[in-house]
Amino acid sequence: MSELNPVSLIAAKRDGQALSDAELKGLIDAYTQGTVPDYQMSAFLMAAYLNGLSATEAAALTDAMLASGTHIDLSDVPGTKVGKHSTGGVGDKVSPILVPLVASCGVPVAKLSGRGLGHTGGTLDKLEAIPGFRTDLSVEQYREQVASVGGVISGQTGEVAPADKKLYALRDVTATVESIPLIAASIMSKKLAEGNDALVLDVKCGRGAFMKTEPEARRLAETLVGIAARHDTPGVAVLTNMDVPLGRAVGNGPEIREVIECLRGEHEESALMQVVYRLAGEMSALGGVAETPAEGIAAARAAVERGDALERFRRLVAAQGGEVSVLDASDTPPHGAPVADVPVPAGAEGYVADLDAYAIGEAAMRLGAGRQAKEEPVDPVAGLSGLKKPGDAVAPGDVLARLHTGGTPNIEAVKERVQRAYTFSESAPPSAPAVYARHTQAGWTSL
Ligand code: URA
Repeated sequence: MSELNPVSLIAAKRDGQALSDAELKGLIDAYTQGTVPDYQMSAFLMAAYLNGLSATEAAALTDAMLASGTHIDLSDVPGTKVGKHSTGGVGDKVSPILVPLVASCGVPVAKLSGRGLGHTGGTLDKLEAIPGFRTDLSVEQYREQVASVGGVISGQTGEVAPADKKLYALRDVTATVESIPLIAASIMSKKLAEGNDALVLDVKCGRGAFMKTEPEARRLAETLVGIAARHDTPGVAVLTNMDVPLGRAVGNGPEIREVIECLRGEHEESALMQVVYRLAGEMSALGGVAETPAEGIAAARAAVERGDALERFRRLVAAQGGEVSVLDASDTPPHGAPVADVPVPAGAEGYVADLDAYAIGEAAMRLGAGRQAKEEPVDPVAGLSGLKKPGDAVAPGDVLARLHTGGTPNIEAVKERVQRAYTFSESAPPSAPAVYARHTQAGWTSL
């Protein structure tokens, strides 16, 4: 390629022109190496945010970001490895349930996860609520654990997609996060580096998600599956509901408690388990241990019933240094500090008609479960548990949720925020689906 001229690339994008694969690669390489400064990359990102990127450009951007770091090679691990990613939401504790569950069905799963930022939680913060749990595995430890346990969930090392790490931090402070092609390239540059042979993508849609509307969520799903296909990686995207929090706990320790209950088979009919089973069915079919997703769902239900999924989680926790006695306790993982446990009373009689996922995510953050800025510590015990959900009957004085914190937030303000997140009706509302549709290269199917 002729010498890189960042100004002309920014101008081209500003004027709505498409950039070539080589131009995008040159720009990303130069930014990662530090020869293109933040101010020029910020201008480029804003131009891309405003004018969009074509499918070809999004794929080329992904390739360039992927090539900036290590591509983990798991080809010596037997079996078809299947990865999983969620676009993130409130109470989304699917991964720590799904990874051991699918592993116990015979599909190896290698997963690099992230930390929470803002109102959404992160899988690493959740798992670290288990005392001793390590999320900083080396590539060698990660590879060894997929082979020995069949599942691993670790942090993104500096070696994987360093361009994304730098770009994401810049997008975060330049109001350029919420762009479908930029999100898709960011996600796929990390997912394609994990070493899996196929991918399931949980694209969340609703108030508590990045994608607030179904058309946006569908476009993201199509972009993600399209990028995977260009890398010869079969991908299935599943569109799931994030208008209300997933499950009845939000926050790291409280969510781990719910994970364990789910693996024990205590929430079989919940929306949370509907999402888990749908994704497990898709992963089993992609991994070749089930003929169809429906057959994979039936096998996954049986694995929970037999206790295999819980047992696999025990092995995963032990392999990553976590305290396995937590799995047999009936309380949130302990962390020494005294924990406030404050009930939020209902003021109305009737049924919960709606619960705002975003408001609950914010409340959890104020209790100490989340972070406003990267690298801030989180309180492992903070969050909400026992959330009443749409369709639940309530009488005045009933507990809508319990608030937990090891810190000193303004608990009355959080209580009020949680109460305002609820709306009530006289009769039971129609139940909203947990899972809407699935998308593959062959197109969309309603679920
Ligand atoms: N998650 C990512 O990994 N990247 C984004 O840009 C948004 C969500």
